This record gives sequence, C-alpha cells and structure tokens, in this order.
Amino acid sequence: MRTSLMSPDDVWTQEAIRHKVEKLGTWFHNIDLKGVQTAPHHFLGDYPRLKWECFREAIPRDLTGMSVLDIGCNAGFYSFEMKKRGAARVLGMDWDEDYLKQARFAAQVLDLNVEFQKLSVWQIAELREKFDLVIFMGVFYHLRHPLLALDLIHEHVAKDLLLFQSLQRGPTTVTSMAEDYGFQDSSIFEDPGCPRMYFIEHSYSGDPTNWWFPNQACVEAMLRSAGFSIESHPEQEVYLCRWQQLPAAPDGPRVAYPSK
Ligand SMILES: C[S@@+](CC[C@H](N)C(=O)[O-])C[C@H]1O[C@@H](n2cnc3c(N)ncnc32)[C@H](O)[C@@H]1O
Repeated sequence: MRTSLMSPDDVWTQEAIRHKVEKLGTWFHNIDLKGVQTAPHHFLGDYPRLKWECFREAIPRDLTGMSVLDIGCNAGFYSFEMKKRGAARVLGMDWDEDYLKQARFAAQVLDLNVEFQKLSVWQIAELREKFDLVIFMGVFYHLRHPLLALDLIHEHVAKDLLLFQSLQRGPTTVTSMAEDYGFQDSSIFEDPGCPRMYFIEHSYSGDPTNWWFPNQACVEAMLRSAGFSIESHPEQEVYLCRWQQLPAAPDGPRVAYPSK
C-alpha cells in the first residue's frame, strides 16, 4: 500500500510498472519508466527521443522560473524534458483522456510535478494564461483548421517562445515571395518553393486525422503570418520561434476569436 512515507522507488517495482503500462493501452510516446519502455516497438524507433536528440540543444538549457504549455502533450515526453530543465510550471494538455492517463502515470513514476489537463486546442482561450514557452509539436497537421490554431496560440497563450513541429511533405526549397502579384501572373504557383499545403480528404498512414501536410515554405510563411518570427530551424520539421506583435489589420481583428 502506498503511504506518504514511501518514495516512488518503493512503490513502483518494474513488474508493477510493466503491468500498469500494459493496462494503459497503446502508447505513442516511448518513455523510459525506471527501465520499462512504454512503446518499445514504435514505428519511428525510439520516439520521440530520437527526434528530441536532434534539436534539444536549440532549447534553453535552463528554464528555471519559466512557464511551459505543451499543447497535444500526448504521454508527456516533452513536458517532462522541460520540467527536468527547471521550468517552474509545466501544463500539458491534450484532448485525449487515454493519453492523459498515461502522462499522469508517467509523471508519478518519474516523480515530476507536471500538471495535465483535458483540453482541446480550440479551447485554449479558456486558460486565460500566457506562457513563456509554448510547445506545439506534432499537432498542426492533425487539425482541420491549422492556421486558426496558430492564430489562437498567438492571441491567447504565447508570451515569448514557440517550439513548433509539423510533418511536411513536398519540396523543401523555399522561394522568397514578392509583396504582391498581378492577377494574370500565375507562374509563381508552379514554383516548387511557393507555399503550399496538401489536403488529405481520406486518410494517410492509416490515420484519418492527418488533414494537411504543408511544404517547408508553407510552414515558414504561416508561422510568420501568425506572428512568430523564426529564431532557429534545428531539425527539418522543427522550429523555435519568438512571439511578435502583429500590425493591426485594416479590416478588423486578424484573429477570428480575439481575446476580450
Ligand atoms: C502526433 S501526436 C504528437 C504528440 C507530441 N506533441 C509529440 O510531438 O510527440 C498528436 C497529439 O495531439 C493530440 N491532439 C490532436 N488534436 C488535438 C486537439 N484538437 N486538441 C488537443 N490535442 C489534440 C492527440 O491526441 C495527440 O496526443
């Protein structure tokens, strides 16, 4: 029986962890819980650790005193890494309660004080809080309205840094676009470096929640357009951005749902 005098080491034997990991269903995040891997057969290998290794140096090593919001946190891999870097407050949110159960269990075993909330990206205005670092990894292309999500993040929860990742498809060349094009000038749309997004009407990789795949030019243009300047691009799909004040639009608010 667990008492307040017991440390997590006393409570969670490897056998108990393995049993609970199995009970919590299929894991997308492979997390090392005291020697027990939660998703050892992940189709992308040791995921997301392999990806994290490619860009971990781009994130401030010391997050002491900072607040972090991890949108679409899944089982909490990135939330835990931020907490290990000293973040004062880490809030992981996801709309899938099964993933949140995994995250809460992993936090308990790892003895990391991370809060997890069931919340959709469409509800983030309800948080009424801004965060020093917002993590928006691997969610963008799962949304039917991806640019709206970036606008909402900019308007309601981001204060300074945004860590962003999207699956990309198509050309990786980036054409510098002109300020304006004449109505008859359609050749730019044939340019592989023109921003474009591919719409998936049915399913991709067996997942019907994959809706949009931007090319690299599109990711970069949408981030800028939503008010995030690109500070670094440490991995093909990953960007570290900084919040920028957007100029007022001449025809009313830029965001569909501005803060009141
Ligand atoms: C591909 S996983 C990425 C997990 C993690 N952020 C990462 O990069 O490894 C996508 C996650 O986003 C969550 N998600 C998808 N749509 C969401 C929404 N509208 N609101 C909140 N979470 C969402 C899913 O439940 C899932 O946990």
